Amino acid sequence: MPTDVILDVDTGVDDALALLLAATSEELNLLAVTCVHGNVTLDQVVPNTLNVLAAAGRDDVPVVPGADRPLKEPPRHARGVHGSNGLGGLELAPSARAPESEHAVAYLRRRILEAERPVTLVPLAPLTNIAALLTDHPEVRANIERIAFMGGAIGSGNASAAAEFNVRQDPEAADIVVQSGLPTLMYGLEVFGQVRLTRAEAETLAGSGNGAATLAGRLLLSRMDAFNRDASGLGDAGCVASVIDPGALETATHPVRVELDGTWTRGETVVDQRPAATASREEPWQPPMNASIEVATDVEAARYARLFIDTVSR
Ligand code: RIB
Ligand code: CA
Repeated sequence: MPTDVILDVDTGVDDALALLLAATSEELNLLAVTCVHGNVTLDQVVPNTLNVLAAAGRDDVPVVPGADRPLKEPPRHARGVHGSNGLGGLELAPSARAPESEHAVAYLRRRILEAERPVTLVPLAPLTNIAALLTDHPEVRANIERIAFMGGAIGSGNASAAAEFNVRQDPEAADIVVQSGLPTLMYGLEVFGQVRLTRAEAETLAGSGNGAATLAGRLLLSRMDAFNRDASGLGDAGCVASVIDPGALETATHPVRVELDGTWTRGETVVDQRPAATASREEPWQPPMNASIEVATDVEAARYARLFIDTVSR
């Protein structure tokens, strides 16, 4: 039985790779894709998402616009990583269809409440939509199977020394999600950066003649050429792969909170790896961290790379 999933994206290059994997996987039932500010503005994320799904032959998947800014700060974008249009400068054939007119949070509430089976949420972007959903509509919790989000880091960040981009873009939203108490996987930078394809693999995909595979190869090659590399990461697509094949991921269960202050640390995911006894010691130097979540610690990277190639090439 395929897993019912909804992706939340800020389509950028690696979100596009994640969309291509989710759109072509027989192990997933892609119910919808919600959009949020992040790598580029929401106004760019929405057409990017429509066009990527069109390239994969999946115009049946609703695309739903959501938050165009974080809960507290103005948005910052990552065009240096994803190119000015968010898709590595690739010009995709424009989709003929429009996004849904409903706001992503209302849409998520309705789709989750009416779902016949609990839904797996796969946020691959700043968590503004998901935080609003959990805060404003707690009734959806009973029909959410789990949340597998790309974000955070046990160690160093990428947006700053301490913070990963999706969490740094909206720390308040991320803190709401990591302490929700729902079954949650944090697919952070420690695994995010390991799953990569070589130039040869990307060239094979680009020359395949298959819509999804060809676009995947072109996106990967655009980043290799932009940064003069002979390999490029699958990024967000690895988080989707972890929903398809969780056995390739090593995880540990820890309390996690997000630092909301701190000149140097705002947006840091603070992962409490201390033994439970220590963490619960009286007179703590910090308040209790509450919910524990699954934190990805390692990945069989080649297994996810193979999964990606085989799936988008179907
Ligand atoms: O830090 C990496 C994350 O930020 C990825 O999801 C990338 O697409 C950007 O959203
Ligand atoms: Ca993303």
